[in-house]
Amino acid sequence: MKVYVLNGPNLGRLGTRQVDVYGVTSYADLVALCVDTGAELGLDVTVRQTDAEHELLGWLHAAADEGAAVVLNPAAWSHYSIAVRDACAMLRGPLIEVHISNIHAREEFRHHSVVSAVATGVICGLGVDGYRLALRHLAAQAETAD
Ligand code: DQA
Repeated sequence: MKVYVLNGPNLGRLGTRQVDVYGVTSYADLVALCVDTGAELGLDVTVRQTDAEHELLGWLHAAADEGAAVVLNPAAWSHYSIAVRDACAMLRGPLIEVHISNIHAREEFRHHSVVSAVATGVICGLGVDGYRLALRHLAAQAETAD
């Protein structure tokens, strides 16, 4: 099963960015965690991060064309990008939205994600473990579908 793990703006700064909120795991560590978890679960995982919205849109379009599964942390775009939501709505495979922090326990402007209504499921507040859990869920679903 092909899975794209896509990360939005500022997530490349993990490990140094607001460590009290996002933890000390670096972006490189997050990539390794996703790739290793994917290998354990027999998933073909590609991990990407961008600070450019059009780049994320292109990756989502490609995932839609391939019918691939997506684990997406849209970061700040979660809260206002209708373009990201519309691209997510085109996906044919499952979409798991992940947030490292508990967006509901933070500033009010973070409480709403425009992406959530078109996601299969949402994981938030469990740190980078949320990515691992998302991949485990996708692998389990793929197994039941076999
Ligand atoms: C985030 C939460 C967003 O509100 C924020 O803009 C991010 C990261 C998270 O993973 O907790 O950049 O998506």
